[in-house]
Amino acid sequence: MSRIPNTPSMPEPTPEEHALSQRLTDLIRAEITRAGGAIPFARFMELALYAPELGYYSAGKHKFGAAGDFVTAPELGSVFAQCLARQCAQVLDELRDDVPGSTSAAGDTAPGTEKVRPAGAILEAGAGSGALAVQLLLELERLGRLPARYQILEISSALRARQRALFTENAPHLLERVQWLDSFPAAGFRGIVLGNELLDAMPVERFRVGAHGIVQLQVGWEDDCFVWRETPANDALHKRLAALNLPEGYVSEIGLAAEGWVRSVADILEQGVLLFVDYGFPRNEFYHPQRSTGTLMCHYRHRAHADPLILPGLQDITAHVDFSAMAAAGMEAGLDLLGYASQALFLLGCGLDKIAACVPVDARVQLTLANEIKKLTLPHEMGELFKVIALGRGVDAPLTGFRLQDRRARL
Ligand SMILES: C[S@@+](CC[C@H](N)C(=O)[O-])C[C@H]1O[C@@H](n2cnc3c(N)ncnc32)[C@H](O)[C@@H]1O
Repeated sequence: MSRIPNTPSMPEPTPEEHALSQRLTDLIRAEITRAGGAIPFARFMELALYAPELGYYSAGKHKFGAAGDFVTAPELGSVFAQCLARQCAQVLDELRDDVPGSTSAAGDTAPGTEKVRPAGAILEAGAGSGALAVQLLLELERLGRLPARYQILEISSALRARQRALFTENAPHLLERVQWLDSFPAAGFRGIVLGNELLDAMPVERFRVGAHGIVQLQVGWEDDCFVWRETPANDALHKRLAALNLPEGYVSEIGLAAEGWVRSVADILEQGVLLFVDYGFPRNEFYHPQRSTGTLMCHYRHRAHADPLILPGLQDITAHVDFSAMAAAGMEAGLDLLGYASQALFLLGCGLDKIAACVPVDARVQLTLANEIKKLTLPHEMGELFKVIALGRGVDAPLTGFRLQDRRARL
């Protein structure tokens, strides 16, 4: 997302938006009442973003691009997808060259009867408008490296419909390869699991370091609005957070849902790579003394601000990603940490410069492309704040995206 800070002179929601937000508010309030006066912030965030038909991502609201609330890398143009396609192609090639899968009971293979296991699949989680899926598959087709299947795991049914419509409009011939999943595929997945700005959209717990220990920030209701409530952190949360040694007064988040998600997807990966692109830091920068009010960010019609309790259902709520925690979650599940780099250096490692050099010499096309590349790579745009992390199993070759920079040691 474009992270340019903005003074939140908020545009007024339309009457329809007000009505939708009111229905979601009623639903959350009812849950707060049932829970005895407060719910954990992670639950509030989950409902605000994903309550069926009412949450920010579940209602039909336009979120992505100039007409929405924020812009993500695939919405800028096709360069991001073209770069990722080259990384995916390398991994798919690795899997294609895998050992023959059919052997006799004795372990040997009769000549001429080898069955090479089918090339891997791509599973994209949180595919948003579908822009990355469409552009990535078109590029892999151009490179002659289409995966056997392109699976999409998307929590929002409104977005699933939008993704299907985008394929129908732009790449109908590829639809037969695309499959929408309701849950993780069964164990034995071989291929690439991709997520762009997925982990930042998962619910986080919020906490404050109090004088007498760590308190969990919850959400209650008072005077016609959502308000913060505090409760002592439970033992598990306390143990995790106490280890960070944060000073009194420090407020931040912990992405337990994203950690759990990475562990679950690691469990189904037989061979291949998990590749996540998102904004965030290694743990020591995430919990930096200067970042003492946390990383929560909300977006409403390109206004960025830090109050997640307003505009329920109308604004996006995100938190930065603690990449050390994501690496640890994957490694606990037996994965290897394969790379960690800034988005800029990763895209260059994938051949961004060569992709840019192949563009027609039309001045307008060149200008649009130059703007797209600037947004993706400049340090004050997405180039440095956004990182790419790769975890994998059974992949020996160094990944091409990390050939110019690999900061694994910082995690
Ligand atoms: C910030 S948007 C990013 C969309 C897209 N990847 C892009 O870059 O434009 C987050 C996406 O993740 C989806 N999402 C969040 N949690 C998810 C989960 N647990 N499983 C699948 N999709 C999820 C949301 O519905 C949404 O499509």
